[in-house]
Amino acid sequence: MDGMSLTGRTALVTGGAGGIGRAICADLASLGARVVVADLDLPAAEKLAGEVGGVAHRVDLADPADIDRFTAEAGPADVLVHNAGVSVVEPFTTSDPAHWDLMWKINLRAPMQLTRALLPGMTDRGWGRLVFVSSDGARAGSGGEGAYAATKAGLFGLAKTLAREAARGGVTSNVVCPGPTDTPMVQAVAERHPGLLDKLARQIPLRRIGRPDDVAGLVAFLCTDRAGYITGQTVSVSGGITMH
Ligand SMILES: NC(=O)c1ccc[n+]([C@@H]2O[C@H](COP(=O)([O-])OP(=O)(O)OC[C@H]3O[C@@H](n4cnc5c(N)ncnc54)[C@H](O)[C@@H]3O)[C@@H](O)[C@H]2O)c1
Repeated sequence: MDGMSLTGRTALVTGGAGGIGRAICADLASLGARVVVADLDLPAAEKLAGEVGGVAHRVDLADPADIDRFTAEAGPADVLVHNAGVSVVEPFTTSDPAHWDLMWKINLRAPMQLTRALLPGMTDRGWGRLVFVSSDGARAGSGGEGAYAATKAGLFGLAKTLAREAARGGVTSNVVCPGPTDTPMVQAVAERHPGLLDKLARQIPLRRIGRPDDVAGLVAFLCTDRAGYITGQTVSVSGGITMH
């Protein structure tokens, strides 16, 4: 298929060493991008960067000063995938405001700060791709994830606004919403709730929870020229458990 190559493009993926992030980095690299793996976990990021022929950077997305340092060191990017995210699961009425602050910083503030730093270079060069990894929990609600859903829902307004502001600079901006996906994030919850994943799978029309590759395929496609007429959209990858 024409228009699928990312050769000559630099793609920065936050949380690139995590479950979904690894799959995104691998897919972007397979399309020819030079991948910048940005993660709190430097050894894991370095290992993955070695596998996909990219470079690794440690960054703490909860720390605005560290994001400034990182963006100066990492240099420009043509593709920016905001994939890093954290969730603290607890009933909202007894939830800890310190957890709200952590989720706001990593899930929403960091994408805002990174985009503010890197989008001007994209529009100056006349080409760019912003992809925000949100969650179906933000579209449909998710028990125990009130603050998480609020921060992830904030990405919808941000991405749509950027789609309008950056369109004339050749930059698209879209949101991908995974449903339950088999990664360390979900395994951590499953360990505390035995049987949860089987129960979830039975509720999903396609009868299994997601795999990181399911999400990565759409993210990578949205970064290609072939997806150049798609902007301001929010797409779920959830086996049909949510339909919008
Ligand atoms: N797994 C799911 O079921 C699911 C469902 C919906 C949405 N999501 C979203 O998909 C994205 C990826 O999730 P995942 O399941 O692969 O998670 P994961 O926990 O496997 O990976 C997250 C990555 O982010 C990194 N990270 C965490 N805090 C960081 C920080 N302060 N600075 C820099 N990096 C940091 C971690 O080191 C890790 O590599 C997240 O935004 C998540 O909210 C996941």
